[in-house]
Amino acid sequence: MNEKTSTARAHTNIALMKYWGKKDAALNLPTTSSLSLTLKEFYTDTMVTEGREDTLLINNLMQDPTRVHKFLDFLRAEKGDFPPLTVVSKNVVPTSAGLASSASSFAALTAAVAHYNDWDLSLEELSRLARRGSGSATRSFFPGFAVWHEGHDDQSSFAESLPESTMPIALVVCEVAKTTKKVSSSDGMQRAMTSPDYEAWVAKSHEQFDVMQAALAANDLETVGAIAEENALAMHALNMSATDRRFTYFSQMTIDIIAFVKELRKQGFLAYATIDAGPNVKIITRQDQAEEIKEKALASFRKLKVEIATPGPGLSYIEENDFADEALKINNEI
Ligand code: DP6
Repeated sequence: MNEKTSTARAHTNIALMKYWGKKDAALNLPTTSSLSLTLKEFYTDTMVTEGREDTLLINNLMQDPTRVHKFLDFLRAEKGDFPPLTVVSKNVVPTSAGLASSASSFAALTAAVAHYNDWDLSLEELSRLARRGSGSATRSFFPGFAVWHEGHDDQSSFAESLPESTMPIALVVCEVAKTTKKVSSSDGMQRAMTSPDYEAWVAKSHEQFDVMQAALAANDLETVGAIAEENALAMHALNMSATDRRFTYFSQMTIDIIAFVKELRKQGFLAYATIDAGPNVKIITRQDQAEEIKEKALASFRKLKVEIATPGPGLSYIEENDFADEALKINNEI
């Protein structure tokens, strides 16, 4: 068996304008463009090497490889055949806790497979391919702010970097629970699309997009935060008003933290909330206020875990890695 390995690192991203609905589920085309911030502190390293069958190990634990296998088969059909792969992944991301680990995971996997096969692809092309694994992964190849253009077909739906920004943005990540989410994003967005308010959310998102891009260009963090919060809360309102199995990702603490963020604003802080497919809240703020907000959050909520996250880099490849032994061990076990 070929012992060649290839390892890529992708950082996770948090959407400031959300992807929440598919206009084509088979191609994973979204109903809206989305806009995100890549984070320095949370990332995934993924190594691939030849195996006896497609297998997946995350943080030293064997996982059900079905989703990864399906994605690898898509890559085989799209770009050319390659042998079964052992995929070894390490997340420096609280997995499935609403910190979008599928984003960094599918971005790192796509890049590692491309590198393994010596495919010479641009970041935009990698992003387009990663979309078929998980939509939010499209944005994890780029540093800082990125936009995933919704597009109208397979070719036109991918993400790219926005011009480099010096905006001193930070996210105070409030980890309410580490539990695996009960409603997957795919299922959640499908239900949300049955809300009578769904079309209005899409129309509003298109409007907000232009204002958000202008605010980023003008370094206007206040407007960026305000739009992000409005966009996220409206997304979660869709879940609650779905006509097919309405639901919410919010826990009591999620709601309390949203109120806490409003209170911070009254006290003069720049603070806005955004929430993904889980109960955790990310507080959008300025880097020079992040530490004080973190202390206040810890003092106000028992059992809360709080991390500060800042703008992060784009995709990288790692030459030296400590994955090879693990991969060998798995290959010997199967
Ligand atoms: C709430 O990318 O996990 O984080 O494409 O079905 O895998 P699939 O969905 P996924 O959805 C992410 C949803 C979100 C918002 C966002 O990241 O834009």
